Amino acid sequence: YRTTPEMFQAKTQAMVDKYKVREETDLKIPVVAPPPGSDVYLMGRVYMWWPMLELEKGQSYRLHLSSIDLQHGFSLQPLNINIQVHPGYESVMTITPTSSGEFGIVCNEYCGLGHHTMTGRIYVVDRT
Ligand code: CUA
Repeated sequence: YRTTPEMFQAKTQAMVDKYKVREETDLKIPVVAPPPGSDVYLMGRVYMWWPMLELEKGQSYRLHLSSIDLQHGFSLQPLNINIQVHPGYESVMTITPTSSGEFGIVCNEYCGLGHHTMTGRIYVVDRT
């Protein structure tokens, strides 16, 4: 879908304000636990994936991915799921995590000097 960096950032911020459960790292990156079935926003920007997500195993979410500056590459590890992320466009997909644990996100599209430090994190928790 078409979007704008301003619109996408506003939606991401609204989700963080509503569902933040803690902060992590020296950068105080919010960890957000939105309810199952909800819309989840993940923003690429120089040089991080923001915020961190905490999802429940076996539950479905609508994941919205976009960038607010340059082109980035969302790469979910260790599953090796790769999605191109462009400013001005929002990719929306339904995801259902099937195993719990900690999953890393790296950027696999060169986006500048900090490219190799551009990481993110998704936690999947088992509440059953
Ligand atoms: Cu973002 Cu490389």
